[in-house]
Parts: sequence; C-alpha cells; structure tokens
Amino acid sequence: MPDTVSVSFAKHGAAPKGVLLALADDSLALGKETLKVLKPIKSTFERALDADRFRGAMGAALDLIAPSGLNVPRVLVLGVGKAGELKSQDFVRLGGLVAGRIPASAREATLIVDLPSGAVGAKAAAEIALGVRLRAYSFDRYKTKKKDNEGEASALSLTLLVADPAAAERAWAVEGAIADGVILARDLVNEPPNVLDPPEFARRAEALAEVGVAVEVLDDAALSEIGMRALLGVGQGSIKESRVVVMRWNGGAEGEAPVAFIGKGVTFDTGGISIKPAAGMEDMKGDMGGAACVTGLMHALAARKAKVNAVGVIGLVENMPDGAAQRPGDIVTSLSGQTIEIINTDAEGRLVLADVLWYAKERFQPRFMVDLATLTGAILVALGTVHAGLFANDDELAQRIAAAGEATGETVWRMPLGAAYDKLIDSKFADMKNTGGRNGGSITAAQFLQRFVDKTAWAHLDVAGTAMASPSSDINKSWGSGWGVRLLNQLVADHYEG
Ligand code: BES
Ligand code: MN
Ligand code: ZN
Repeated sequence: MPDTVSVSFAKHGAAPKGVLLALADDSLALGKETLKVLKPIKSTFERALDADRFRGAMGAALDLIAPSGLNVPRVLVLGVGKAGELKSQDFVRLGGLVAGRIPASAREATLIVDLPSGAVGAKAAAEIALGVRLRAYSFDRYKTKKKDNEGEASALSLTLLVADPAAAERAWAVEGAIADGVILARDLVNEPPNVLDPPEFARRAEALAEVGVAVEVLDDAALSEIGMRALLGVGQGSIKESRVVVMRWNGGAEGEAPVAFIGKGVTFDTGGISIKPAAGMEDMKGDMGGAACVTGLMHALAARKAKVNAVGVIGLVENMPDGAAQRPGDIVTSLSGQTIEIINTDAEGRLVLADVLWYAKERFQPRFMVDLATLTGAILVALGTVHAGLFANDDELAQRIAAAGEATGETVWRMPLGAAYDKLIDSKFADMKNTGGRNGGSITAAQFLQRFVDKTAWAHLDVAGTAMASPSSDINKSWGSGWGVRLLNQLVADHYEG
C-alpha cells in the first residue's frame, strides 16, 4: 500500500470506491452489509472460495481481480478467524493485515466494516484504522529516488463503511491521536544521529505545544545550575549540548498530582571512553527510544485530550569520546547528592536517568513514575525482542502495566529486584558505582535507578530489545517501533483518567 493513508468513514450502502475490501470469518459467512454489496458476484465468490481453499483464517485473503458485476477493480475478502473472539488488539492487527493486502498502485480503497457476528462497533472500526496507519508507515525521508516507474501511488484514501460514521469519527479522534504518537516516536528513533542531536530532539518536543502540551527546555547552563552532574558528565565528551525537556499535559483535575513518564534520550551512544566495537554501532542512534516513546505518549495524551495530569521528562545527551570526555574512575555527584564512581562510561543511560528521575520526583511528587530506557544489552539476552523487561517497587503498578501490555500486545515480563542485587553496585570510593558486572546486568542497572526514586511508586521498562530493530510485525515494518506509546496510553486510560 502507499505509505500515506488518509482515513475517512461513510455509512453502509455508500458506493464503494477503488479496491473493495470485505471481511469473512472462519465459518466463511459474510455479514449482512457485506452480502448486500457482494450480491452481484455471489457465485463468483463461492467458486473462488473453493478454488482458493480460503478458510477465513485471520490474515488469509481471497483476491478477485476485476470481477464482472461489480464496478470495482478488485475485491479482497480477508479472513478474521473466530469473529466472536476479536479483542481490541486483534482489530488493530486486522487493520495491519488489511493495509498489507492493498496493492501499492491503489489510490482509493473501501473496507466494509462488518462481520457475520453482527455490526462492528465504532471503536473497533477506529482500531482497524489505527492498524492501517501503523502498517502503512515507512521512514523514507532520506531516499531521494522515488519509487516511480512501478505504478505506485503516493497516497491512498481509505474509506471505512460503518453503521454510524459520526461515532466512528469520534473513536478515530482517539485512535488517530494514538497513531500520531506512535508515528512521532518511530520518526524520532529512525532519524540519523547527525540530524537528531539533543538540541534538535528538544526542538521536536517543543512542537508538542501545538497539541496543548506545555514544554520547557533546560540547556547545559540550566542543568549545571540545578546540579545534574551525573547527566552532564555523560554529555561532556560531545560537542553537542545536553538538554532536559519537561512536557506537561494538564487534562485532569486541577491540583491533582500528575503521573510521570521519564525517558532515556542518548541520541548516540558510542560507549564513550569505554568505546563500543564498530560492528552494529550505527544502531546506537536508537538509544533515545525511551525518550521518543515518552514524547510520542505525551503527544497522544494531549491530542486525544486525556483526562489526566501527565508529565514527561526526558534526558537528552550524546555519549562521545574526546579529550573532555568522562573517564572510568571519575566520581560525579548526582542531583540527589549521592556520589557515583564511573566504572564503565558505556553504562551511561542510568547516569542520565538518575538525575532525571530525582528531578521529576522532587519537582512533581507524581502518583507514579514509569521510566523507559534502552538500558542494557543483557535484557536482550534474557527476553529477546518479545517482551520488555519490567522492574518495579510497587506490585499494583507492575500488575497494571502487565495488563496494559496484554491488552495492547506490547508485552512486558517482570524481573526481580532485591538487596542481594543492590549490594553489587556498592563502590569502594563513592556511594555507588555505575556497573555491577556482567551477571544480572539488567537487574543491577535497575537497582541503580531505584536508588533515585525513594518511596515514589516506580516502574522501569528496559526497552533495548523492543524499541528498535525488533522483527517486523503486522502493524510495524519500521526499524524504530514506537514501542510503549500504546502500552502506556492504555495504562493511563484504564486507571488514571476521570
Ligand atoms: N545503550 C546501551 C544498551 C543497548 C544495547 C541498547 C543494545 C540497545 C541494544 C547501554 O548504554 C549500554 O551500553 N549498556 C551496557 C552496560 C554495561 C557497560 C554495564 C551493556 O548493556 O553492555
Ligand atoms: Mn552505553
Ligand atoms: Zn546507551
């Protein structure tokens, strides 16, 4: 399908335009609205069913080109499996499957949003549209050769035929905001590190003012004044300045404590003086995936006018080796007053988060803090690219995040914390050191963060395996996944609104 898709809704019965898409379940039944439209080609459809051994499984498709009797270039019937069992995330996935079947040459397409089990609600229709937008996304800003001579359309206009277009539009105002948030996060992760340095990331965050987010940017001088020396130490080997961005959305009751989201935003991680090997280092442009997620989430919450007070705080630095760079052996005093001995300058994300977590806690006294960080390679060893690692000092918050993960398909796996791990980061010379050795590397990283959250309910998501370079899915073909925006939006919607 073309990568720019505009979505609109019309009422069942409207004349289909372009490629016609319909849904069938695994009983091979069609919905009543679908039958009305496909009536002129009923016998063609039935013969094709037999010929193609189409069984209506989720993702299967029956493709009829230029069927006589209907004035459309193509009819695609998509299977949904067991129609009665479809949940929100299945409709999103279905949207991805729909988008994946639309030919690249199509300029117009129409989907009859209807199942044999009965009318599909407005919310489900909007969830399908969300899946379409997410699947269609591709980051090709830096490709100068247009894919022209293959007859590809540059944009697709997709109409969803529904029972109540006005209700679907209202649901789309919410799901479309989520789509925009995910896409913003993906764009940020995909951008090259020469373009997206800390000041540029901060400028992109400032654009959230357009949806009503209050954005504050703290520069090197301000951060030094405040005393964020753990964060500044990471950035001191780079010619780029560091930034901390505070994003506030006040959609909730006045004076109610906010929920807080904190993001690691290392716009490029060379490892610093403890430099990384060359192979694959280019992937470290995605080491700001946590900050990208927080920015995309704040966009989504504001654009859908969530009834919540939320703050997003991101720490933006570039980790480079040069004459001014931090050394192994250095001791820095963090904003909290606690001192940190630097053992490995490549364990930089926790240094950034230490100051940002402490800052968010002190300034906002939030109901909870959730941080996201591409923090450790060890979480990839433990969980692969399937789950993000979840660490928490609060069982209720952990359980709510896990449930939101199941609901959105952005799943997490809880990992342990405890005193026996915590003591591994005690230092000979300072209050703590910034690495605890190879074993349990994701856990000792989380223990380090926990030293900067006090009694605040807190959860840490290690997204090194999910924010970038994870295998493509039905709703994502992009390197930067935008992972976490849908998860945390769901968490807020389920428990912290109204
Ligand atoms: N940004 C990396 C972690 C990472 C690795 C993210 C692979 C995504 C993919 C992080 O800053 C890092 O370098 N961590 C070190 C910590 C170690 C030095 C204690 C690691 O995981 O090796
Ligand atoms: Mn590193
Ligand atoms: Zn890093």
